[in-house]
Amino acid sequence: VKITIIDRDGISHEVEAPTDMAMNVMELVRAYELAPEGTIGICGGMAMCASCQCYILSEDVEIPPMQDDEEAMLWEAFNKKENSRLGCQINITEELEGLVLELAPEY
Ligand code: FES
Repeated sequence: VKITIIDRDGISHEVEAPTDMAMNVMELVRAYELAPEGTIGICGGMAMCASCQCYILSEDVEIPPMQDDEEAMLWEAFNKKENSRLGCQINITEELEGLVLELAPEY
């Protein structure tokens, strides 16, 4: 599926995201090196660091709702917005076609 990721410098990247690799959005950002090494995915995708926080900009793409651990982590996160999600908690599926998101600032 095609996903557009706006990096922390405001540059937009349209990337091809595989749906058959059990990958999440945080891993996708790392795979395409859209954030410097060590600034995203620090907890390894356990919903415990918020380094993978992103803002969901597309309104027409359905993302599965947050689980409790994601909500709890975001509650404590810096730079949280209404449309914040943790990239590591969003698995890449066919439903994400056309998703546009922006990486939250590094903290
Ligand atoms: Fe740590 Fe997502 S990688 S919360």
